[in-house]
Amino acid sequence: MDGYQRIAHSLEIKNLAKSFLINGLIHPVFSCLDLEIEQGEFVVIVGESGSGKTTLLRIIAGLEKADHGSVAVAGKYVDSVGTERGMVFQEPRLLPWLTVRKNVSIGLELRKIPQTEIDRTVEAFLHLVGLAGFASAYPGQLSGGMAQRVGIARALATNPEIMLLDEPLGALDAMTKIRMQRELERIWQEQALTMIMVTHDIEEAVYLADRIVVMSKEEGGIREVIPVSLPRSRDRSSKQFGEVRETLLREFHLNAQ
Ligand SMILES: Nc1ncnc2c1ncn2[C@@H]1O[C@H](COP(=O)(O)OP(=O)(O)OP(=O)(O)O)[C@@H](O)[C@H]1O
Ligand SMILES: [Mg+2]
Repeated sequence: MDGYQRIAHSLEIKNLAKSFLINGLIHPVFSCLDLEIEQGEFVVIVGESGSGKTTLLRIIAGLEKADHGSVAVAGKYVDSVGTERGMVFQEPRLLPWLTVRKNVSIGLELRKIPQTEIDRTVEAFLHLVGLAGFASAYPGQLSGGMAQRVGIARALATNPEIMLLDEPLGALDAMTKIRMQRELERIWQEQALTMIMVTHDIEEAVYLADRIVVMSKEEGGIREVIPVSLPRSRDRSSKQFGEVRETLLREFHLNAQ
């Protein structure tokens, strides 16, 4: 023993910067962004439109290159996609010519897993997202919310360690959303996942997050990190829940005072 213990960080983002070139002009999205996420943590990212939430998730997923800085998963630098990171996109991006079942199983088939195991996994995750009866349907036959749930099942089926979720419940009706929030919490706990989820829904952030990361365009990255230490499963009507909600509303200058 060397006398001290190191906390194992599932994800370490250091000095990350990203800008886009639009019509010959450089548009910075963020600069010097630092964030450490522990294994098994549920981190929720909020922030105004255009503050770089999707860009940050895409860099973590390895779908976008940063200008400088680094992303490390369990101590290893990553700059391309990897099976330990699964992503649910802002729009579900299903393949319209494949059935729901095939859309969910596609990542598994690339891995040469036995067909019986693939079938079992796909059925289980379709059941989980409430689409057990739609395995043979095509994406064009689904509502927006149903398509988004297929996207969630597809990401979960590949069994990632880190789930990157870009407004995964944004298109759902209020009741399905609450049910899916509970399901996401349950899946996160059961599968010991690390979750990094973007949302515009403040109540959703307070319900799910261990920490809420507030991104800001003006400040070029992370403005604030708000820890949420309320016991789970959280009571949305409790005084403490309301207090965290108020803190967040103040961040966006949306509270009544
Ligand atoms: N491929 C791209 N080419 C040029 N600019 C881009 C590209 N992707 C994103 N941007 C710019 O980067 C900034 C951040 O975009 P991003 O999509 O990350 O924002 P966001 O926080 O996810 O917004 P929203 O809440 O609307 O989804 C925006 O100003 C956007 O115009
Ligand atoms: Mg976005």
